[in-house]
Amino acid sequence: MLRTPLPQIPRYARDDGLAERGFQQSLTISKRKRRSSRGCRLSSGFSLTPTLSRWERGVWDSHLVRRSAVRLAIIGTGKMATGLARGWLKASHDVTFGSRDPAGRRDFLIKEVGPGVSVETHAAALDSAECVVLALPYAEVEQFSARHAALLRGRVVMDITNPFDALPDNRTSGPEVTARAIGDGARVVAAFKTNFSGILARPVDAAGTVRDVFYCGDDVPAKAVVRGLIEELGFRAVDCGPLLAARVLDGMVPLMVEMDRRLGGPGRTRRAHWKFETP
Ligand SMILES: NC(=O)c1ccc[n+]([C@@H]2O[C@H](COP(=O)([O-])OP(=O)(O)OC[C@H]3O[C@@H](n4cnc5c(N)ncnc54)[C@H](OP(=O)(O)O)[C@@H]3O)[C@@H](O)[C@H]2O)c1
Repeated sequence: MLRTPLPQIPRYARDDGLAERGFQQSLTISKRKRRSSRGCRLSSGFSLTPTLSRWERGVWDSHLVRRSAVRLAIIGTGKMATGLARGWLKASHDVTFGSRDPAGRRDFLIKEVGPGVSVETHAAALDSAECVVLALPYAEVEQFSARHAALLRGRVVMDITNPFDALPDNRTSGPEVTARAIGDGARVVAAFKTNFSGILARPVDAAGTVRDVFYCGDDVPAKAVVRGLIEELGFRAVDCGPLLAARVLDGMVPLMVEMDRRLGGPGRTRRAHWKFETP
């Protein structure tokens, strides 16, 4: 059992307000219910019940209402980026990769992901995005976020990067560093940190269990977008609370890699996953 200490997490106080008021229950993300005369119609059919406050609805309205797909910018063109893009393109989202070398990566991406891919410079990909996925090496993320802060502010930023030993345990986390680099208006949600790239196309394991994707963040509407995107790939989205919880998720990654190496049979399976169970 994971015993990473959690002293800095004050019982998820930062989003307790909404959680305690039943926000999680009242927020409906449903592909079936694309339009509701009482609720808001959102991108990809994500819908909100009218129990949300005016402010919460306002955030949604300004970003995602009346669109048929989420415009995603995936920064990086590696294993995670291509794995996620395949699923989201299948779910009819609009995906643009941001690359250091768009022309040089185009043929590779067409072969890996499909003929419909679009690849741009970082700035061009960010410019039209509603949701940005940071799929870069961790060492590049802080600088990238600071350099593009103006384009990242206000957008949902899904940080999937893993610092491993680049940060001190439990005193900060990759996504908190990203949020600080973006500054005021950052809407960072950590997700997919504890999922190997090899399982992105396999949301259900060999035993028939739906794999979990842990996510956390402080911006509740941004988390709802991320949750919808996770569920559309076929995974169970597990809300781990505020961004502070990313300190623990960061620590779960090297442990997962080590346990996969020790317990996964000959070599690494790269198919291991964390599962949260309630009795
Ligand atoms: N692999 C996994 O199983 C896994 C699981 C969970 C999370 N993660 C995290 O997800 C992130 C991406 O992992 P990955 O396995 O997809 O890595 P990857 O295959 O190495 O791809 C990283 C991509 O980032 C871009 N990149 C590389 N060096 C860069 C630099 N110096 N500056 C800017 N961009 C650069 C490249 O795209 P361009 O050349 O097109 O710019 C590259 O394709 C990492 O932070 C990793 O910790 C990985």
